[in-house]
Amino acid sequence: PTLEEGVFSWSAPSNIALIKYWGKKEHQIPANPSLSFTLKNCKTITSLRYKRKEVVGIGFELLFEGQPKESFRPKIQKFFERILPYCSYISNYNFIIDTSNTFPHSSGIASSASGMAALAVNIMSLERALFPDMTQEFFYQKASFLARLGSGSACRSVSGSIVVWGENEEFSEASNLFGVPFSAKVHDVFKDYQDVILLVDKGEKQVSSTVGHDLMHHHPFAEQRFAQAHTNLKDLKVVLQSGDLEAFMALVESEALTLHAMMMTSIPYFILMKPNTLQIIERIWKFRKEHGVPVCFTLDAGANVHLLFPKAYKVEVMDWIASDLADYCQQQHYIADEIGEGAERL
Ligand code: PMV
Repeated sequence: PTLEEGVFSWSAPSNIALIKYWGKKEHQIPANPSLSFTLKNCKTITSLRYKRKEVVGIGFELLFEGQPKESFRPKIQKFFERILPYCSYISNYNFIIDTSNTFPHSSGIASSASGMAALAVNIMSLERALFPDMTQEFFYQKASFLARLGSGSACRSVSGSIVVWGENEEFSEASNLFGVPFSAKVHDVFKDYQDVILLVDKGEKQVSSTVGHDLMHHHPFAEQRFAQAHTNLKDLKVVLQSGDLEAFMALVESEALTLHAMMMTSIPYFILMKPNTLQIIERIWKFRKEHGVPVCFTLDAGANVHLLFPKAYKVEVMDWIASDLADYCQQQHYIADEIGEGAERL
């Protein structure tokens, strides 16, 4: 089938892992299963303009907020090369990809998950236009599959609100190739869970996640860590159904610190936390103890702190952030987000 030209437009959110993906095999296969909350406000909005061409091959132009952006080219080129075996039709088109983020450009928030997910769903819109029989399930699975080839964690940004990626004993439907929505019934407390991202360091991180994943190959604790992720996933599955917040906080914080412990014990070792990351963690523990508010933290591969808490405590926690935690953020900057539903066609 052929289509001459047109445009699609989608948004896709970021996600925050509770069980961390850290370590991968060839072809973006995770070394352990992971689980994340899909976010709502931190999104990438991408439009994909396509036009049929005669000469076959990968061809695209890149715009960021409407302006040419060549620095994204190597990543997108690699993405197109990787997906080509599964989407041969892309070589019949020239693309103009125009992208923007709802969060500030240099905020230390990685746009790779939301960006690759937004691009992947756009490609799938083209595939669906070419092959209209496709089921909804196929659309989302393959979109997640393609997003994974762009950036591993991006496969968890296509759908919501809790996504599992990586084969494991707990979820028979889980796959190494794409993320799947958490299938068990989730306790109400998690349905509108809040995530405030405290921007401790907005700069480019010193060690990329690609390098970090690679360092798990000869890591002295790799096997124990991968086994632990399976156990933690099993326990978290129970907790997400029971609503046991004490157990939730203990698991989530342990996962975050383990991720950074893996970095600190890699060869060579490195540290992505900053002094203010630790200041904030201490203040969270103090606040939790003194006020009895179930607020905990998680970290991704950087210095920023994600503050997780039930919506019922929103006013209290936001007041505390404004009057105290904001002082530990770069330019007092933080972003209020919450659990969300995944990619949206615009
Ligand atoms: O998707 P990548 O390759 O950038 O890896 C992301 C890894 C973490 O964010 C640290 C953990 C995760 O599961 O998202």
